[in-house]
Amino acid sequence: MKDILTIAMPKGRIFTEAAEMLRVAGFQLPPEFDDSRKLIIDVPEEKFRFILAKPMDVPTYVEHGVADLGIAGKDVMLEEERDVYELLDLKISACYLAVAGIPNTKMNDVAPKIATKYPNVAAAYFREQGEQVEIIKLNGSIELAPLIGLADRIVDIVSTGRTLKENGLVEYEDIVNITSRLIVNPVSYRMKDARISEVVDRLTEVISGKKVGEPG
Ligand code: PRP
Repeated sequence: MKDILTIAMPKGRIFTEAAEMLRVAGFQLPPEFDDSRKLIIDVPEEKFRFILAKPMDVPTYVEHGVADLGIAGKDVMLEEERDVYELLDLKISACYLAVAGIPNTKMNDVAPKIATKYPNVAAAYFREQGEQVEIIKLNGSIELAPLIGLADRIVDIVSTGRTLKENGLVEYEDIVNITSRLIVNPVSYRMKDARISEVVDRLTEVISGKKVGEPG
């Protein structure tokens, strides 16, 4: 097992871009990689084992060392604050975290309610602004909250802006820009440094635009 690198991949939006990036970097990934229900996919040719996790859980697997490497959004890194190293900004899946709500509305003066999938990030942001808020943790469809009176504002990811627009919401403040990161378990980083450096070098070439589309 010493030679095998276990990589935690986020299921969902980031997955396709991350898999494409690994392929452009020259790693041979099987077709089943893209549309399988399997949660563990071994690629013996590359000495890789992939585990497919919920995006918010990727840093947890890496922190505990059951995955050596992982691909996680900066949003997840900020929210989870796990004990892992960030090795690379992969510059994929760009989006940002923003405060949004119904147009032309003021927040409640007393303990305004903020709905979000990112309670830690949201709490830190409003603390910095000197505003006392009540955080309401939701797991998805955050835009519903102001529409049905659950919250004054939301803190959520904006990518194309379509979800806000189609639900009649507007952005009030940008919080932080987000891209996906390559993360590593600190012990793996020491024990498997040669293999990890190879992955980092090859991905760095892709990020810097030296490799565009050609395998190998
Ligand atoms: C995310 C985010 C927004 C939407 C933003 O939700 O929470 O709702 O994408 O994207 P857009 O600006 O391109 O419209 P996701 O689709 O991941 O699902 P969720 O509602 O379950 O969080």
